[in-house]
Amino acid sequence: MTTREFPRDFLWGAAAAAYQIEGAVDADGRTASIWDTFVRVPGAILHGDDADVACEHYDRMPQDVALMKQLRLASYRFSTAWPRVCPDGGPVNRAGLDFYSRLTDELLAAGITPFLTLYHWDLPQALEDAGGWTNRDTAYRFLDYAMTVHDTLGDRVDSWTTHNEPWCAAFMGYTSGGHAPGRQEGVAGVVAAHHLLLGHGLFVEEFRRRGGTPDNGKSVGITLNPTVADPFDPTREADVEAARRLDGFHNRVFLDPLFHGKYADDLTRDTEGMLVEGKAWQDFVLAGDLELISQPLDFLGVNFYHGDVPAALPYDAEPGELLGSRIEHSPRPRESPYPGGGFVFPRTGRPTTDRDWEIDPDAFRRLLVRLKDTYGAPPIYITENGAMADDVVEDGAIHDVGRQQFIEQHLHAVLDAMDEGVEVAGYFVWSLMDNFEWSYGYSHRFGIVHVDYETQVRTPKDSALWYSEVALQNRLPVA
Ligand code: FCB
Repeated sequence: MTTREFPRDFLWGAAAAAYQIEGAVDADGRTASIWDTFVRVPGAILHGDDADVACEHYDRMPQDVALMKQLRLASYRFSTAWPRVCPDGGPVNRAGLDFYSRLTDELLAAGITPFLTLYHWDLPQALEDAGGWTNRDTAYRFLDYAMTVHDTLGDRVDSWTTHNEPWCAAFMGYTSGGHAPGRQEGVAGVVAAHHLLLGHGLFVEEFRRRGGTPDNGKSVGITLNPTVADPFDPTREADVEAARRLDGFHNRVFLDPLFHGKYADDLTRDTEGMLVEGKAWQDFVLAGDLELISQPLDFLGVNFYHGDVPAALPYDAEPGELLGSRIEHSPRPRESPYPGGGFVFPRTGRPTTDRDWEIDPDAFRRLLVRLKDTYGAPPIYITENGAMADDVVEDGAIHDVGRQQFIEQHLHAVLDAMDEGVEVAGYFVWSLMDNFEWSYGYSHRFGIVHVDYETQVRTPKDSALWYSEVALQNRLPVA
């Protein structure tokens, strides 16, 4: 059998996030995050689910780490919960921080490298009450919290990620309203994005000041979810324009400031006349911000699930013709996450996952190549990739062939990109286990390990067994 090899030190792991798995929302001094509030908003979450219990990971952590070891994962990507570590955005809560200290020790004892993310969307509600991410002060509160985590875990954790998908935190949270805090305030998403980036830059500066460099074995990066924006009809001017705008407010709004130290002019043109608190979003960008934001990074985290193929409105769609129409959504109305909106996503005919996301591994390859060619990206970790599936348990087993194929195809795309000179240092499957999938609640399963939410029993799916073997062999079979 022919195989394709990964580099010798390629890091294989699985990812999860605090709010999606921990539960124990009132334990040991934790206070509410914006998600604890949002899950109580009528219609915000499919079937009214909440994450009060989730996977009970807070109490089952040692067993979960043992499971990772059994699956021979070399690394675990997790996030620390701001409202556990600094309740209400205030001073340190030792009991909350201790959980992550114990998790780190448990991982290291199991030979698993901790890969830590500081912000996976759980802003303390008290800080949202003070304005949230549209308030510049939140970036400084983030720095305080992040350094609190760093002070305690910095001796044992080498890989630090500031934010997970700031696009979702900003544009789903403050423009579309589909995510917490559920605000639907147009260009406020851009202001939130800028302040998230500012918080990132403040942490990078302090991390370096304290000796955080690859020479000392320490690295810092950010995880984005960049997309590939292809016009639905490349011969239709309006679709080409829609793809440009989508690229602007999904990719370039983060990539340009991070890697080129500026925001592109077309973002300004596209948002003319749109105000936040009576000001244009550019007025929130102060002298020195872009220098902080564009400090060199040691790695870029990339989360990828699907590309995007927009068609400009007006577009006459038959029922069922638009992506997402084959799944049930939470009932609360949401706006387009793109300021000004103006486009939809028709089916292109590619196969979809059960989430009704089109499967396009070659878009993944193209994306990775673009990150190298246009942005000179540092080494890339694929920090999330995986598939939602309506899994069925048969005699205690889960034959999730579709998920396994999805991962396999995307790993080939990673290898293809590497053949074109992109440096990819590792891959984390999303997710270690089924969990609370934000506005889709528990109905959307992404785990390679199945969770029975009645009993909390974990069962590795076929994809987990397969993935474990690929990671161990460090190579993929070629069909
Ligand atoms: C990403 C999130 C992650 C998970 C996956 C499916 O946007 O970072 O928490 O919800 O999607």
